Amino acid sequence: MASFTPISQSQPLFNNTHLTKLPPQSLAGPNLGSEFLPKWFSVRFQAPRRIPGLPMKASSVVVSATTAEKPKKRYPGESKGFVEEMRFVAMRLHTRDQAKEGEKEVKEPEERPVAKWEPSIDGYLRFLVDSKLVYDTLEEIIQRAAIPAYAEFRNTGLERSESLAKDLEWFKEQGYVIPEPSTPGVTYAQYLKELSEKDPQAFVCHFYNIYFAHTAGGRMIGRKVAEKILNKKELEFYKWDGDLSQLLQNVRDKLNKVAESWTREEKNHCLEETEKSFKYSGDILRLILS
Ligand code: HEM
Repeated sequence: MASFTPISQSQPLFNNTHLTKLPPQSLAGPNLGSEFLPKWFSVRFQAPRRIPGLPMKASSVVVSATTAEKPKKRYPGESKGFVEEMRFVAMRLHTRDQAKEGEKEVKEPEERPVAKWEPSIDGYLRFLVDSKLVYDTLEEIIQRAAIPAYAEFRNTGLERSESLAKDLEWFKEQGYVIPEPSTPGVTYAQYLKELSEKDPQAFVCHFYNIYFAHTAGGRMIGRKVAEKILNKKELEFYKWDGDLSQLLQNVRDKLNKVAESWTREEKNHCLEETEKSFKYSGDILRLILS
């Protein structure tokens, strides 16, 4: 069993890792074109930017406690902790059919109401195989913990790699040929690997969205697809050991703790990554309909 260091003993988490490892020449900012600047530079010094999923008004609500009389404006969800901020941005990126807080227009096939989907077993197998590659990758990253704070997310009980392995084995026993991972899964896995090393805030956004989306919309999708093409068989992918809401709460608490050591710019950078998380996961979801 992996060792577990309580968050309170490993302060400060992430500790602005990408800020502390600056090569000296990167401080010569003014002489360099922006393409030469390391990512942290633009993140630290940019003006407030639009956060996907937030209307301009809300995303430009920034900080400004310049006068004593003005109360500091808050980001949506901020008072409840950073997970609530991530959730707020994510919910706005759903369509109205997917979730009641959704605002996005339907553009892609997987954004149509799940009840109207016409899934195929081959497509669903492609989805499960690519999902497994993504979970294998995430779980390896967390296990390896190249950034020490990732170790906090070991053994959360939300891991999906082993359950997906069992499901694929079951399909094999039923006589199905298990395909190789396809472009959406391979591309996302590669992106996550890169991000995990060079951009922990953005990586955490994907970590949150992947695991939490699967326990919400993902479960609903699993149920509907099973009704349509699997004779209602419930796959291991949709079963968790223990009380799922408690497992989720434990991870929320850790995420909130991790984000406490981030600057507002780092938090915004994490929130801004949500759109990409939807894009990559949407590409994998779409496989169900392929
Ligand atoms: C067909 C696609 C999808 C459907 C039908 C769907 C549906 C839902 C529903 C019903 C909820 C629960 C809303 C609530 O708590 O009231 C939810 C939550 C959520 N979804 Fe989705 N969703 C889909 C795709 C996605 C994608 C692609 C992502 C991002 C990768 C995502 C991220 C989330 C997150 C982060 C939550 C919040 C979970 C929580 O609060 O614990 N969803 N979704």
